[in-house]
Amino acid sequence: MAEIVAGVGTSHVPAIGAAMDNGKTDEPYWRRLFAGYEKARQWMAETAPDVAIVVYNDHASAFSLELIPTFALGVASAFSPADEGYGPRKVPVVEGHPELAWHLAERLILSEFDMTLVNQMPVDHGLTVPLSILCGEVDPWPFKVVPLCVNVVQYPPPTGNRCWNLGKAIRAAVESFDEDLRVVIFGTGGMSHQLQGERAGLVNAKFDAEFLDQLTQDPEALTRRPHVEYMREAGSEGIELVMWLIMRGALGDNATEVYRHYHVPASNAAAGLIILQSGPRGGDAA
Ligand code: DHB
Ligand code: FE
Repeated sequence: MAEIVAGVGTSHVPAIGAAMDNGKTDEPYWRRLFAGYEKARQWMAETAPDVAIVVYNDHASAFSLELIPTFALGVASAFSPADEGYGPRKVPVVEGHPELAWHLAERLILSEFDMTLVNQMPVDHGLTVPLSILCGEVDPWPFKVVPLCVNVVQYPPPTGNRCWNLGKAIRAAVESFDEDLRVVIFGTGGMSHQLQGERAGLVNAKFDAEFLDQLTQDPEALTRRPHVEYMREAGSEGIELVMWLIMRGALGDNATEVYRHYHVPASNAAAGLIILQSGPRGGDAA
């Protein structure tokens, strides 16, 4: 049987990937951010999952306003890094897991989540930067990836409650997959940031800290938070955080915080990272 062993929440700020790609991680601007990633990378290497389900959003790379799937599941055997204007990042092609992805498609759609199934999907910083943050500079990536792309760009994005319930359905679907796979689920995006308009550059560290606390301790309270509250408190792109509720929903009722790192600034955004394990600390992880 497959199982979800842990969840990771992380920002996907493109400049973090660019700092790695251009050898700038030791520069004063970046040093402290990357120092905080060391423990997370160690944890990732030790955890060594077979597959990661990466919940992320596309930024007009694979999709555009011509086609806006709310939940798009990548069922292909490979996903190439997208060209976001400077050529594709020089990171490995992301290897998929079609068998698990099609199993998820079946279980989720028959559980009444109307997933869009995608056989070809270039993946942008929303997916590749989290992999770089957790894995460092590696070739190939150390695990297979099932991408789950969520619309948080064009109003209306899915509600937090819908994301939470989708996470729960993902947990049940993974647990009914007939192969011994260890799966980690990523929720990506955020934290507070706004990229344009009068409030461009907005960061709300208090909101971010409370979000991280609640994600572990009281996620159901987060499921009731309306979109407008994210927009007001965490900036227009802070809405990306609803995707973390899919990750959290997939961990079951109880989760334990293993590690947290928060740093400002990263480009125009706050960069946050949290690692969660299923089950209460010291308790039965089932
Ligand atoms: C930036 C872009 C993002 O997609 C994001 O989530 C955070 C920051 C940026 O361009 O700085
Ligand atoms: Fe983003």
